[in-house]
Amino acid sequence: MKLFIDTADLNEIKEIASWGILDGVTTNPTLLAKSGRSFQDVIDEIFKLVDGPISLEVVSENADDMVREAKQIVSKVPQKYQKNVAIKIPMTPEGLKAVKTLCKLGIQTNVTLIFSANQALLAAKAGATFVSPFIGRLDDNGQEGMRVIEEIMEIFCNYDIPTEVIVASVRHPIHVIESARIGADIATVPPEVIRKMVKHPLTDAGIKSFLKDWEKVKK
Ligand code: E4P
Repeated sequence: MKLFIDTADLNEIKEIASWGILDGVTTNPTLLAKSGRSFQDVIDEIFKLVDGPISLEVVSENADDMVREAKQIVSKVPQKYQKNVAIKIPMTPEGLKAVKTLCKLGIQTNVTLIFSANQALLAAKAGATFVSPFIGRLDDNGQEGMRVIEEIMEIFCNYDIPTEVIVASVRHPIHVIESARIGADIATVPPEVIRKMVKHPLTDAGIKSFLKDWEKVKK
């Protein structure tokens, strides 16, 4: 399973990319606002940090404007990185029209705010490169998000649908394990959850006792 980082915090992306574990990045307007940097600042840096799909979201509501905005975003990215741009498009009828056009133009798309297998199927049919079902928000709403991932994976496997499934709105490390067990293509994970995935108290205790014992034998 590929691992994307779900943040626009450039320091976090830089640090965690240095561990050699990142395959891509997802952002959204809320994450950009939290980063405290301008959209252009983030675009200028983010592609240098991770060599993989970088999702950047449009905020227009009709298809023509979404396509125009997507082209503008691509044009702001240095040419050598443009192949890594994935335009995030909301799951609406206008969004589907935009996905169809962007697919014909060879621009990758990530259809976002997906909450059902039917939405994922429609996005894939329109030509989405990626679909992002938001499992944490489903859990918050009293519906088991991971079951939607199972349904989407089953449907995409049944028909060899090439669209990749990004498990999004990940809240804790168990979401990541379950995504990998189901066989999801990608999980996009916030930095604080990636940090929890690294840690185990027995690892820390083991290092401490090895260092203590090393003191006894080192001379
Ligand atoms: C995915 O691409 C989204 O940026 C993200 O996973 C949303 O997660 P949230 O529900 O924690 O806002």
